[in-house]
Amino acid sequence: MQIEFQSGNYSDAVCDMLAFPVFAGETPQSRSLLLLDKTTRGILSTLLSSGEFKADLHHTCVIHRPAGLKASRLLLVGAGLQPAFDLAALRQIAGTVARAARSSGCRTVALFRRSSHPPPEAARVATEGALYGLYDSDLYKTRDKEKTPLEKFVLLSRERIDRSEVMEGIRRGTIIGEATNFARSLVDEPANILTPTEFAERAWSMGQKVGLEVETLDQEQLEKLGMNALLAVSRGSEQPPKLIVMRIPGQEKKTKGEMYAFVGKGVTFDSGGISIKPAERMEEMKADMAGGAAVLGAMVALAQLRPRQRVMGLIPAVENLPSGRATRPGDVVKSLSGKTVEIINTDAEGRLILADALTYARNLGATGLVDVATLTGAIVVALGMVRAGMMGTDEKTMERLKRNSSITGERLWQLPLDDEYRKQIRSEIADIKNVGNRWGGAITAAKFLQEFAENTPWVHLDIAAMDLDSDGRPYASKGATGFGVRTLVQLML
Ligand code: BES
Ligand code: MN
Ligand code: ZN
Repeated sequence: MQIEFQSGNYSDAVCDMLAFPVFAGETPQSRSLLLLDKTTRGILSTLLSSGEFKADLHHTCVIHRPAGLKASRLLLVGAGLQPAFDLAALRQIAGTVARAARSSGCRTVALFRRSSHPPPEAARVATEGALYGLYDSDLYKTRDKEKTPLEKFVLLSRERIDRSEVMEGIRRGTIIGEATNFARSLVDEPANILTPTEFAERAWSMGQKVGLEVETLDQEQLEKLGMNALLAVSRGSEQPPKLIVMRIPGQEKKTKGEMYAFVGKGVTFDSGGISIKPAERMEEMKADMAGGAAVLGAMVALAQLRPRQRVMGLIPAVENLPSGRATRPGDVVKSLSGKTVEIINTDAEGRLILADALTYARNLGATGLVDVATLTGAIVVALGMVRAGMMGTDEKTMERLKRNSSITGERLWQLPLDDEYRKQIRSEIADIKNVGNRWGGAITAAKFLQEFAENTPWVHLDIAAMDLDSDGRPYASKGATGFGVRTLVQLML
């Protein structure tokens, strides 16, 4: 799909659909609606006064052959309350518009600018939102796919704004939007296709396309290094484990010292292992590599956006299955850090693979760590499917991440990490055990990770259940969300 910028009046826009955002509380007499209402000979006042159209966020209404407009259709789209209309809301509106246009069979749609966000940023997030909206999770449907593709999405503005700035925004938005959809496509892949080996191969081939250096450590190398916490998880599977390491070429020499490492949980399927999960909704555990996909998506975007900040990405990729070779509850392993771990529950596998990956990142010289993981059901109990959990020792980065939410739309909530929580994961036989009791499960999981982040500033994002959306939204299909890609990219920008 082509994304374009045009300046001019909306009545002159030639397209299959003109999308006009309406804010809650606006009336046909409101200054900016008055003109549209007059131009269209009262369409707006009819729809608003009859209550047929409400300006609640993402409400839409299509009017065919509107009077006074060159567009064949007018789409009124509810934008919610104007003061709450941040960049995240604009991104979603663009998604709603793209999806509404496609489902009406349109080939070209123009979104009229009604917000005062800086044009480059507005263009960027609107582009992201349009691309996000058009992604579908029907990877393997062989029938019912005859949706006419949207060919052109126009960002339309009446103001005179700097074209080159907007074009740069569109370029960045395209990079981020496509990288997010790439991450989503990996999360949607079933686990028989996306094995750790396939994950590494997809990372490598995308890396070739965008100029991202992708190196993969195989089982033998992981054994030599002594990543026994990671290896303990993959033991039960026929699929060999991989550690995917990503770097942005040319960054090595620049800005010495500081280097972030993004570490993403890449469990391509989590059956629980010997501590096996119940059957109900186990299929969703194909998405237990969503943290890894978010890290890969972010690195793919960053390789093209070329931030000054040095950053690398690591994905420990494994499959967690039971078998005659699988790790048993009660087994003890020596992690890469040298710390010994008693594995009480083989379903608490994410923290085991992340532990070794965090140590490895520190050994590679990381000075800041951010891990992203579908780590605990407990975070879902605490926060539901609205916000991801955030814990860590790097208060500065956490503050920044919180502030960025109004741009990324990915909401986070910080939980505490008091020392007292550490007691729950004291082991009688080893340095630490991999689960605590029932209470504060998201925090004890983070306490476990903290042990391996040691004194390196570290942030942990628990994105369990944020990875898949089973309902679908006006601005997005059901399925993978790509949660985390935008958060990580925005942090580096
Ligand atoms: N991948 C799961 C966490 C999860 C649960 C993600 C629901 C998405 C939706 C993780 O590996 C896990 O099994 N965690 C256990 C930990 C427990 C054994 C301490 C959990 O949360 O039940
Ligand atoms: Mn598990
Ligand atoms: Zn898991």
